[in-house]
Amino acid sequence: MMEPPQTRLMINVFIVSFLALLVNLVVGVLGADNYSRDDFPLDFVFGSGTSAYQVEGAANKDGRTPSIWDTFAYAGYAHGENGDVACDGYHKYKEDVQLMLETGLDAYRFSISWSRLLPNGRGPVNPKGLQYYNNLINELISNGIQPHATLHNFDLPQVLEDEYGGWISRDIIRDFTYYAEVCFREFGDRVLYWTTVNEPNVFALGGYDQGNSPPRRCSPPFCATNDTMGNSTYEPYLAVHHILLSHSSAARLYWRKYRDKQHGFVGISIYTFGIFPQTNTEKDRVASQRARDFFVGWIMEPLQYGDYPISMKTNAGERIPAFTNHESKQVKGSFDFIGVIHYTNLNVSDNSDALKNQLRDFTADMAANIFGEDLFSNEEVNGQQVIRHCKT
Ligand SMILES: *[C@@H]1O[C@H](CO)[C@@H](O)[C@H](O)[C@H]1NC(C)=O
Ligand SMILES: *[C@@H]1O[C@H](CO)[C@@H](O)[C@H](O)[C@H]1NC(C)=O
Ligand SMILES: *[C@@H]1O[C@H](CO)[C@@H](O)[C@H](O)[C@H]1NC(C)=O
Ligand SMILES: *[C@@H]1O[C@H](CO)[C@@H](O)[C@H](O)[C@H]1NC(C)=O
Repeated sequence: MMEPPQTRLMINVFIVSFLALLVNLVVGVLGADNYSRDDFPLDFVFGSGTSAYQVEGAANKDGRTPSIWDTFAYAGYAHGENGDVACDGYHKYKEDVQLMLETGLDAYRFSISWSRLLPNGRGPVNPKGLQYYNNLINELISNGIQPHATLHNFDLPQVLEDEYGGWISRDIIRDFTYYAEVCFREFGDRVLYWTTVNEPNVFALGGYDQGNSPPRRCSPPFCATNDTMGNSTYEPYLAVHHILLSHSSAARLYWRKYRDKQHGFVGISIYTFGIFPQTNTEKDRVASQRARDFFVGWIMEPLQYGDYPISMKTNAGERIPAFTNHESKQVKGSFDFIGVIHYTNLNVSDNSDALKNQLRDFTADMAANIFGEDLFSNEEVNGQQVIRHCKT
């Protein structure tokens, strides 16, 4: 995994994301196969992954302030459940590390709760938050488990959402970079693998197109909820734009100020599908490629080439922000690795008719129908399924 050149693929065998609906699929697939460590290269790193809100608990303790996920859960959108206690990892991290050891993990991918470390979103560091992450990292290292840290896993501090709209404002670039630097400075002597933002594509579609995940923004007729504060035609593109600019700002800061001393790596993780044409026709093959552009190229092409895929620029027109020359240069190449989060495949068929609609969101711009996966259904996040995958 930590092999060669520019692009390192990080494969976490068990990644628990907020897309809990999909977790069962992963377990099912792994169960069906029959292989062992011997089938992998010697230096392959096996690990597990979690996100802060899913496991830490202690949501209102020791100075932590709410994130947009707390707000979402308290408003009842996670089937009435919330992460106030969760797996209580805040108190049980030592036991957790022992479980990792028993499981035989080489690495643990966790996320840092921004609002635990910086209760105001920026400014002073919360000493109790700092202590918690230092304890966790030290515990991992003293047990021989590599820490991999994610900075943003769907849990923006609510204070920044309230102050300027979070990821739809350019102000986020400054504050995210500040937060990232606190983490590099405080933990970078021990953490070598940094994922800036987890699944920006899914975060933007759930949070700003359908509005069925935090921060619940959308506009009719695209909402999966009854809320109408937002703009589904535009804000998903805007949020990802600011995520890419924030990511690249943090990555370049790391390279400039910390890499020589700390020798670590900065990347971003993308939610991916295996995408196949529903029928063996030219139209469906082209639609499949377009769907790859929209789901993966949306993040990957700016990082690799400095601009969005042509199909996206054509179909979204002025609704997808343009990079200035300077921004394009900053984003292009700003990664040491790409995290690939893969649960499942889907089939795609052409739906070019959608382009006749004046009012279009991401899905209409993609002009494709999707089969075999219910990712963008109106289902709310199913808290039961998240909890089933936590330890007891
Ligand atoms: C897996 O492999 C083992 C040893 O080769 C064998 O005993 C077992 O039946 C296999 N299980 C499945 C599900 O194929
Ligand atoms: C939206 O509101 C209408 C009328 O109050 C209700 O019937 C419908 O179930 C609501 N839809 C959602 C997704 O909450
Ligand atoms: C959404 O944003 C687009 C692009 O800025 C704008 O043309 C449109 O009027 C907005 N729609 C709503 C509902 O605000
Ligand atoms: C996906 O497409 C393949 C053929 O390309 C087909 O065999 C399969 O049934 C399709 N799956 C779904 C869920 O439609």
